[in-house]
Amino acid sequence: MSILAGLKLEGFKSIQSLGKEGLTLDRINVLIGENGAGKTNLVSFFKMLNFMTTVSDGLQSWVGKEGGASTVLFYGAKTTPKLSATLQFQNDGGCFEYHLEMAPAAGDAIIFLAEQAIFRQEPSARGHQSSTAFGTGHKEPKLREFAQRDVQNTPANTLSKALSNLRVFHFHDTSDTAKIKERGYIGDNLYLHGDAGNLAAMLHKTKHDSPDYYFRIIKMIQQVAPFFGDFVLETTDTNREKILLRWSERGSSDVFGPNQLSDGTLRFSALATLLLQPEPPSIIVIDEPELGLHPSAISVLGALVHTAAEQSQIIMTTQSPRLLDTFDSNNVIVTTHESMSTHGRFATKFKRLDAEKLTSWLDEYCLSDLWEKNVLGGKPSR
Ligand SMILES: Nc1ncnc2c1ncn2[C@@H]1O[C@H](COP(=O)(O)OP(=O)(O)O)[C@@H](O)[C@H]1O
Ligand SMILES: [Mg+2]
Repeated sequence: MSILAGLKLEGFKSIQSLGKEGLTLDRINVLIGENGAGKTNLVSFFKMLNFMTTVSDGLQSWVGKEGGASTVLFYGAKTTPKLSATLQFQNDGGCFEYHLEMAPAAGDAIIFLAEQAIFRQEPSARGHQSSTAFGTGHKEPKLREFAQRDVQNTPANTLSKALSNLRVFHFHDTSDTAKIKERGYIGDNLYLHGDAGNLAAMLHKTKHDSPDYYFRIIKMIQQVAPFFGDFVLETTDTNREKILLRWSERGSSDVFGPNQLSDGTLRFSALATLLLQPEPPSIIVIDEPELGLHPSAISVLGALVHTAAEQSQIIMTTQSPRLLDTFDSNNVIVTTHESMSTHGRFATKFKRLDAEKLTSWLDEYCLSDLWEKNVLGGKPSR
């Protein structure tokens, strides 16, 4: 399994630069910071990667949806003529880097100036190294094409797998028209969608293929919603292809529809399924998973994240003091939006907490106290 050990990023939304050394990532990474600090912008970068590596014409459609290249580049195309990024994945075989450079193009689209797969035996410049460049001027990544050309263990192949195993989740949409509440194709069960739109299909598959996992998910949901009995995941006689997230109460045979499940229970069901599924993504990126959850459910969520971290790397944002308290100080990255003296504009900075420096504080206070007292920086908004 490949872990994202480091990220260099320049010119993306509010992120002018993550610095020469980039951002070092651990097994669990919890981003905190004021509203508008730039946490979601980092998540958004991973979303862009998800789109461009899993959807056809994904990069251009994502840029279009965002409002064009000028919205995506740091203070627009005039200020930022180039976006660049290097993702450093590490596994037993060595260090694999995916490097990309992009520039604005006609029609507020974006094109590649460079796309490269690099292999290093060691993270430093020593040891064996090799690199493959995928050309320039293209509008969609060529990584997958290069990976498919040679399915042996090439850097392109390893990177293509690593990127398709990095997935972004945000379960904010529980409106009446949300996909999670609609009838979905029962076979859409390869992986959980970013908005949990195929939750019913995923649960159906888990129940049949991995009942132990399914029952753990149900137990966890019952822990935060004691009235909850089970999901009723059956197709109807008239439509055997589609499935709806129906459910029943404990001790009752009455069946309810997804609209009758509270928003918080629905979101928690998606989180429990994501974090307790039998084959989770290697890297899970989640934006504010605590949204709409009761404080006691937030503590359960913290425990779930720790369980999931045994199998997956976690990169998440939070505004919840209670969720923050379930982590160690060295899991935490503080996000700030700082006015830069060089150009007077604001830019996002990320800084991992220095656990050693906080030792004496942590003897007396918990992380959320220190956050509130602004000892950590990135004070929570009231
Ligand atoms: N293209 C851009 N260039 C510079 N700043 C941007 C750009 N796009 C968004 N921003 C900044 O990012 C902020 C939103 O950051 P966001 O990541 O949503 O914050 P949060 O930390 O609350 O998740 C905006 O208020 C704006 O200041
Ligand atoms: Mg945000």
